[in-house]
Amino acid sequence: MAGRALMRAVRVAQFGGPEVLKVDTNVPVPAPSDTQVLVEVKAAGVNPVDTYIRSGTYAIKPPLPFIPGSDVAGIVKDVGSKVTKFKPGERVFVSRKMYVADGYAEYSVAEETDTSTLGESLTFQQGAGVGIPYFTAFRALCYVAREKLKAGNTVLVHGASGAVGLACVQIAVAKGLKVLGTAGTQEGMDMVSSQGAAAVFNHKEPDYTEKILEETGGVGPDIIIEMLANVNLQTDMTIINKNGIIVAVGSRGNIEINPRLTMQKESTYTGMILMNASQDEWSEMHAGIKKGLEEGWLRPHVCKEYSFEEAPQAHIDVINNTGSLGKRVIVT
Ligand SMILES: NC(=O)c1ccc[n+]([C@@H]2O[C@H](COP(=O)([O-])OP(=O)(O)OC[C@H]3O[C@@H](n4cnc5c(N)ncnc54)[C@H](OP(=O)(O)O)[C@@H]3O)[C@@H](O)[C@H]2O)c1
Repeated sequence: MAGRALMRAVRVAQFGGPEVLKVDTNVPVPAPSDTQVLVEVKAAGVNPVDTYIRSGTYAIKPPLPFIPGSDVAGIVKDVGSKVTKFKPGERVFVSRKMYVADGYAEYSVAEETDTSTLGESLTFQQGAGVGIPYFTAFRALCYVAREKLKAGNTVLVHGASGAVGLACVQIAVAKGLKVLGTAGTQEGMDMVSSQGAAAVFNHKEPDYTEKILEETGGVGPDIIIEMLANVNLQTDMTIINKNGIIVAVGSRGNIEINPRLTMQKESTYTGMILMNASQDEWSEMHAGIKKGLEEGWLRPHVCKEYSFEEAPQAHIDVINNTGSLGKRVIVT
């Protein structure tokens, strides 16, 4: 790109704790290929998977050094010769299937097919909050749980105050389901309610699952989207409705379960991982999410902004903090 060859970025030179995230001021600005756009990044989403990859314990181990992050929003600066949909100056957000794609940087290249126009009604910070959370929520509900995704059915979003959970709430509300959510603070509960959930429970209260059952007239939710399966799976299997489906989206350890519970309920338990989405699914999800953002029933909520220098704190917060209020983003 004319006039600027180097940029600032957050890089990982060795796997480890949050302290390995270092600001580097001498990173070459990437050049777009024929099919790519170069985006001047204004905000980048911080996802829990970024921390797993940084630690070196995840299935994906990128060659070192690498720039974490995949979800960005910003302004198109340059386009490859085969790019037809975008031109310099346009506001865009990028949602990629690759979990490591040089997102925490001043500039990032993205395939045209992974890039969408960012409407004027959304901020760059909101645009950076779309990617992994909304695609994950969309795939969990509209693909994996599709047989139960019917107006009038009840869904429990177990961990509704976080980035994926809020996206689940918004999608399920738009599909006409009765949405129940959980959060760990009153502020989080209020926010989930404000997104259209019919009832919200505090997952730190000892008796909250009994209240969830009461709210469903004793039968339990038809769908449970689970953000912390290693803590909640046995409970989910106890409270799910007959023939219901539990979809584990997040899990951070082991849990002992009684398989008899699935027999009694003839329920289904399955996991879901975004990277398994086919290219066709990805394109469909892109279209569905774009429609929701344009029509206003999908709206990322920004929890907190961090500078490049604060990237280590962002990683600490996304893993350890309670009191989630949507999406954490790094701003350039
Ligand atoms: N399978 C996939 O492809 C995929 C894709 C994206 C994310 N994930 C995983 O999904 C999980 C959520 O991601 P995220 O980006 O939404 O993270 P996040 O923004 O940090 O949200 C975490 C959520 O978990 C809630 N939580 C905390 N303790 C809980 C408990 N005991 N029971 C139920 N929920 C509890 C939090 O509530 P409070 O903060 O209010 O307590 C918050 O709503 C992470 O584990 C992530 O790795 C998986």
